[in-house]
Amino acid sequence: MKVAVLGAAGGIGQALALLLKNRLPKGSELALYDIAPVTPGVAADLSHIPTDVSVKGYAGEDASPALKGADVVLISAGVARKPGMDRSDLFNINAGIVRSLIQAVADNCPNALIGLITNPVNTTVAIAAEVLKKAGVYDKRKLFGVTTLDVIRAETFIAEAKGLDVDKVRLNVIGGHSGVTILPLLSQVEGVEFSDEEVAALTHRIQNAGTEVVEAKAGGGSATLSMGQAACRFGLSLIKGLQGEDNVVECAYVEGEGEHSQFFAQPVKLGKDGVEAVLPYGELSDFEVKARDEMLDTLKGDIQLGIEFVQS
Ligand SMILES: NC(=O)c1ccc[n+]([C@@H]2O[C@H](COP(=O)([O-])OP(=O)(O)OC[C@H]3O[C@@H](n4cnc5c(N)ncnc54)[C@H](O)[C@@H]3O)[C@@H](O)[C@H]2O)c1
Repeated sequence: MKVAVLGAAGGIGQALALLLKNRLPKGSELALYDIAPVTPGVAADLSHIPTDVSVKGYAGEDASPALKGADVVLISAGVARKPGMDRSDLFNINAGIVRSLIQAVADNCPNALIGLITNPVNTTVAIAAEVLKKAGVYDKRKLFGVTTLDVIRAETFIAEAKGLDVDKVRLNVIGGHSGVTILPLLSQVEGVEFSDEEVAALTHRIQNAGTEVVEAKAGGGSATLSMGQAACRFGLSLIKGLQGEDNVVECAYVEGEGEHSQFFAQPVKLGKDGVEAVLPYGELSDFEVKARDEMLDTLKGDIQLGIEFVQS
């Protein structure tokens, strides 16, 4: 397996690369790309860790050498939030970065599975899809917005609030990846009941957890270590699917049947070509039905912005 990380010198990229160096299957290749000149040094640093995963680093304007032959591409290139910004404030810079990197993916490894981390994910995934369509290589089974951080946050906060073993907390987080579009399905957590107040408070905390980190870092960026962990979990699941492992399921922001919006985060079964099946996300409580329906205008607007960015 060859895994390329684009934006590899950044906060997320370095954390993710460290985790992948330690956890990719034996014999894998890790290719690190970033415009920052430090990138070959990040690779050299990681290469001293004794695991059977080779690491190469590439800096500069051309992502091609990192992308050639890649099976999985994880993209965290772009700018991160500062206090007072929401994810949509990142659009102006990150939209162009995603467009050019996805073009490079289309040119060099059009069959790779792509996990997009760069915010605003609700919009950057739509941009990626449009660029891939223009290049004639779009396969909706292979493009993912990475929403795993919302899932691991939900698991952590629920376990803390209810005194549960965090390894046993499982739930779907559906919708998108910003504010009200993040909808954790608390009603589906087994073995616990939540009061209406708890549902409101936990949902709000999960939706705003990114801002908690942005404010705590006081201008030093947004979530990087927990995001590295989330992206590693998601990337390894993509690889398990590619390698034919059965029953690999993750929530991700993908193009499904379009029941709610063109892209929607929900559980997907991963296989040899990416999404093998978009799975139903189960029964919702009244609170969750209302929250899902109320988010759709925002989500559709975010998607439309991405489509127009590429088309105009
Ligand atoms: N999906 C999520 O849940 C989630 C969570 C946290 C952060 N993010 C997003 O991830 C992105 C990265 O965050 P970070 O904290 O790692 O930021 P960072 O600033 O630490 O790193 C970004 C890296 O991207 C590189 N870069 C910029 N333009 C590039 C290009 N054209 N090609 C290659 N590399 C380029 C920079 O040199 C930098 O090293 C941000 O957009 C952030 O909002 C997403």
